[in-house]
Amino acid sequence: MDHAKFNIINLFLLICLGAIRGTSGAVTLIGLPNTVRVPENSPATVVASFTVSATGGATIPSGLPIIINSNPLSSAFTISNINSKCEILFTGNPILDFETAPNTFNLQIYVNDSKGDTDLQILTIVITDVDEPPVFLDNLKNQVYITENSPQGTIYTVLAYDPENKPLQYSLQPTSYPFIISGETGSIISTKVFDYEKDLKSYNLLVKVGDGTNPEINGTVIVNIVNTNDNAPIFTMKQRTFTIPEEQAPGTIVANVTAQDADDFSNVGNLTFSINPTDYFTINPLMGIIQVAERIDRDAKPLRDNPLITVEVSVIDSPKGGQSTSMSITFNVTDINDNPPVCIPDTYRPQVEETAIINTRIITITCTDIDVDPPNNQFKFTNLSCNGCNQIFDLNPAFSGNIVLTGSLDLEQPNNPLEYTLTVVAEDITAPFYKDTAYVYVIVLPVNENPPVFNPTTYNFSVSELNGQWTLVGVVTATDKDIPFTGISYSIVAGGSTLGYSNIFWIDPNTGSIQLMTEPDYETTSKYVLTIEAVDNDPKDPKTANSVVTVNILEANNEKPMCTPNDYTLTIPTDLSPGTNIQKFQLTCTDRDSPPTAFRYTINSGNINNHFAFSPPEGSNITRLILAEPFHYSDGLDKQWNYKLLVFITDDNLLSKGIVETGTVTINVNVVIAGLTTVSTTTPVSIRQT
Ligand SMILES: *[C@@H]1O[C@H](CO)[C@@H](O)[C@H](O)[C@H]1NC(C)=O
Ligand SMILES: *[C@@H]1O[C@H](CO)[C@@H](O)[C@H](O)[C@H]1NC(C)=O
Ligand SMILES: *[C@@H]1O[C@H](CO)[C@@H](O)[C@H](O)[C@H]1NC(C)=O
Ligand SMILES: *[C@@H]1O[C@H](CO)[C@@H](O)[C@H](O)[C@H]1NC(C)=O
Ligand SMILES: *[C@@H]1O[C@H](CO)[C@@H](O)[C@H](O)[C@H]1NC(C)=O
Ligand SMILES: *[C@@H]1O[C@H](CO)[C@@H](O)[C@H](O)[C@H]1NC(C)=O
Ligand SMILES: *[C@@H]1O[C@H](CO)[C@@H](O)[C@H](O)[C@H]1NC(C)=O
Ligand SMILES: *[C@@H]1O[C@H](CO)[C@@H](O)[C@H](O)[C@H]1NC(C)=O
Repeated sequence: MDHAKFNIINLFLLICLGAIRGTSGAVTLIGLPNTVRVPENSPATVVASFTVSATGGATIPSGLPIIINSNPLSSAFTISNINSKCEILFTGNPILDFETAPNTFNLQIYVNDSKGDTDLQILTIVITDVDEPPVFLDNLKNQVYITENSPQGTIYTVLAYDPENKPLQYSLQPTSYPFIISGETGSIISTKVFDYEKDLKSYNLLVKVGDGTNPEINGTVIVNIVNTNDNAPIFTMKQRTFTIPEEQAPGTIVANVTAQDADDFSNVGNLTFSINPTDYFTINPLMGIIQVAERIDRDAKPLRDNPLITVEVSVIDSPKGGQSTSMSITFNVTDINDNPPVCIPDTYRPQVEETAIINTRIITITCTDIDVDPPNNQFKFTNLSCNGCNQIFDLNPAFSGNIVLTGSLDLEQPNNPLEYTLTVVAEDITAPFYKDTAYVYVIVLPVNENPPVFNPTTYNFSVSELNGQWTLVGVVTATDKDIPFTGISYSIVAGGSTLGYSNIFWIDPNTGSIQLMTEPDYETTSKYVLTIEAVDNDPKDPKTANSVVTVNILEANNEKPMCTPNDYTLTIPTDLSPGTNIQKFQLTCTDRDSPPTAFRYTINSGNINNHFAFSPPEGSNITRLILAEPFHYSDGLDKQWNYKLLVFITDDNLLSKGIVETGTVTINVNVVIAGLTTVSTTTPVSIRQT
């Protein structure tokens, strides 16, 4: 609505109201001005005061007068009536702003009374312009964020206006801050490149805006510098070498790696640690704690050769793809005493002669301890023990592995054994004093100290010449004082041989019993003197003893008579006279163990009709064959012409009992008729040795 039209309508209303006012008069609004001026943007205030009066006893109902109309419509005005004193009030809501039309309000104030009289007046309220200060258009409490390292330049433009459209002047405080503001445009410009880590993290800027007349308005702009990941993390620990013992359990913390990132001191958890290689150690990626990952054995290669483990520790900041830093740290692994001495071999079987003298070295035990460094790899030998040894062994030098003899091993001493069982402990010289035990079985070698001794020293045995092979002649015995007894062997070293026999005797090497190998012959050798040797069976150093053994061969009749001729053929005539020595035939006999008088002659067979006999029949080494009975062929008494005489010659003529040896002779006698044949009486026909 334009002003002209508006005024015409007001004029019309005024005329009408004037007509009403003129026709009544019993109730009246008194002192209500036509126009009041109210400066724009006033707070709540009384804009007009008046009274109301009614005549003729009429009363004014409560709640009157009222504003029955407002042009333009506004709820910003109210009316009050206290004891007929009335006020028009501006409530302050809405604000009456000159610049925002409308700025003229026509209020129709109406009142009536109990008698029906009325009054209506119009109050014109004119809003007057006031020179107002500028106004911020934005909320300056908003935060302004700029990332560090951003280039200088406009970071924000303050938005303000002046209600009266006067040119504005901007200024900024404090001027020490690296910001300026364009006085005309309100653009705030940063005058430096910010480093979050060095500079203030936020700036409270006081922005003042003036319109030249009013007091300046002010507001705050908070500039926050936003951190960016523009710094690599750095390790904050100085230590680079850590000396750690070997063999720590997996999980043991061996180092704490600490790092900081200049970009973010508080978010250390955002640093991520890593380690390379991961052979021995792991690192907690968030905490930087380095822990043992697996067994670290200083005593095994490669650490045995070089105890230093160098690892690369890296730390990377976030966000991902951030910056990283690395360093080398070195672990110096130190030896601990974690290995016992080990004795290989742990069993020894030295052999020592029983005659070994004091201080003889028995054995040297060797053990090793694979711990790398002294004293962890050092040990001593101790606790040499031997059950029932009577302290005859010792370590010399003390604590060395040399076992020496300090007593006698003599086996001939009572209770001295052939073997000693010793134990020696090799013990670490440092805690926890690991040990190993070596076992030494000292084997005592007997030494042949004593020769055998015959008891008795000589022997006198007798054996009859009648005995044959395996006949026991006698037993010799030798003893030996050496312990252990190794046995004694006997042998014949001299004597006992005879013509035709190299050995008449045999001695059992184990029992010493002397036996005949063949029948001895008293007549050949009546006495043997044997040298018997006894040898102890010491393999290295056998010792011997000799004994003289006399064997007397006892004589016995063991020889047959031997006679010549022992086979003969005779021829005799039938008429030979009895008593004739037949062809002067005689036997001549010998017997090596019988005298000539011992012979006895008998014709065992062939002497049919007992024609033949020997004279003498006994007691002589010579006897003749005689015809004892004449032949009687013509009578038919004799029919045999050939006689084969088997003659036994025995040597028992003098013996009442005992052994009789018999020799034999065969004599053939042919009988021929007398006168028919010339008989040779002297020529033997055949001689055969038996
Ligand atoms: C007086 O004015 C009030 C408010 O407009 C109205 O309600 C009332 O009827 C009027 N009284 C008379 C008698 O006209
Ligand atoms: C900012 O303005 C208020 C009034 O609007 C005033 O009280 C205050 O002192 C001003 N501050 C400064 C620093 O000028
Ligand atoms: C590492 O740090 C932990 C606690 O943070 C501490 O208990 C430990 O003793 C430290 N270890 C070393 C080797 O510094
Ligand atoms: C790591 O940084 C991010 C921001 O980059 C943050 O949200 C997070 O809380 C940080 N983590 C820790 C453990 O500080
Ligand atoms: C490792 O530690 C041992 C024992 O402390 C020391 O003797 C040796 O010099 C160290 N080695 C290095 C390279 O630091
Ligand atoms: C020494 O030996 C004895 C008996 O054999 C045993 O009881 C003792 O523990 C041993 N001492 C050591 C240090 O080995
Ligand atoms: C040996 O024994 C024989 C026969 O018994 C005897 O004749 C002889 O005197 C003995 N000799 C000795 C030295 O005893
Ligand atoms: C026979 O015996 C005698 C003694 O009686 C002796 O002289 C003679 O040598 C013996 N003859 C033979 C052959 O042995």
